[in-house]
Amino acid sequence: MGNRAELDWSSLTFGYVPTDYNIRCYWRNGAWGELEVSSSDMLTIPMAATCLHYGQESFEGLKAFEGKDGKVRIFRPEENAARMQHTSRGIMMPEMPTDLFLEAIERVVRLNRRFVPPYGSGASLYLRPLMIGLGQQVGVKPATEYMFMVFVTPVGPYFKEGFRPTPMAIMRGYDRAAPLGTGTYKVGGNYAASLYSGHLAHSKGYSAVIYLDAKHKEFIDECGPANFFGIKDNTYITPESTSILPSITNKSLMQIAQDMGLKVERRPIHVEELATFSEAGACGTAAVISPIARIDDLDEGTSYVYSTDGKAGEISERMYNKLRAIQYGDEPDTHGWVRVYDF
Ligand code: PLP
Ligand code: COI
Repeated sequence: MGNRAELDWSSLTFGYVPTDYNIRCYWRNGAWGELEVSSSDMLTIPMAATCLHYGQESFEGLKAFEGKDGKVRIFRPEENAARMQHTSRGIMMPEMPTDLFLEAIERVVRLNRRFVPPYGSGASLYLRPLMIGLGQQVGVKPATEYMFMVFVTPVGPYFKEGFRPTPMAIMRGYDRAAPLGTGTYKVGGNYAASLYSGHLAHSKGYSAVIYLDAKHKEFIDECGPANFFGIKDNTYITPESTSILPSITNKSLMQIAQDMGLKVERRPIHVEELATFSEAGACGTAAVISPIARIDDLDEGTSYVYSTDGKAGEISERMYNKLRAIQYGDEPDTHGWVRVYDF
């Protein structure tokens, strides 16, 4: 590995720490070129690039973990490759083939091995693949040239409370994505759309906004940068919606819940049903499982309370431990989710 980077691993937040290398690849004349390694984290791009004007930008997020055995494990990268292809189809960008995506992921982690946080620190290496329209265009049209990149950065918990339950808020005055809009794509514009309401929620002491379906304002969509789940009657329930990101963590938790003997339901969740859950949480790569202490409906003046003692519910905790154990290699990876690298 060489010398490990000198960082205070257990106090990392979800921020940006520069690392040694990143990977780049260009789409020109209808084809992807070779993967290139760069040691600069700067880009020089044309002013008229479509990513700057018309939002031709997509990204992904996944994590690498160091196990007790010193090996590096990357969680379900082929799922991120598939989702990035789905996003590309949605905003007319070229699809990055899964093989090339996986090669880029492996190379960037290998090159930055010294930044993979040590086993036991609770931190991980976050991988951020992204794609931008590079071609110059002033008319609203897709570019003819694109750039794919992957950089990495070591991270700690996304919500500073980590696995401690936090309060979230419903605010009907703000939507993140339209029902048949870009919600299922991982495009920067969805996050721009969530910045103001996210800021408002934070200023009122909430960790995230729980968005409702934009059409009826009756059903739960998702929790800021994470999917929502509720638990009741030994059942894991998560929203079905055409405007939420298909979360790989959520997909994994549905399987873990089933393995634990829970029933799993993916269906619309009416706001009023929030009153019936015994536990609720947000889930995602960055968020892992972030238990929800309380959901305040700021329009109706109602509150749904899931935890008052600062502790997560029992089922959320078991699912969290199971997911982490698979990711760090502490428990068998019975579903073949983890790619293990000997570097
Ligand atoms: N929902 C949104 C809006 C997100 O940004 C993310 C993060 O990627 C998720 C859900 C969780 O998805 P995943 O579990 O694939 O990281
Ligand atoms: C992730 O969980 O990977 C995300 O992308 C969430 C957020 C940092 C945008």
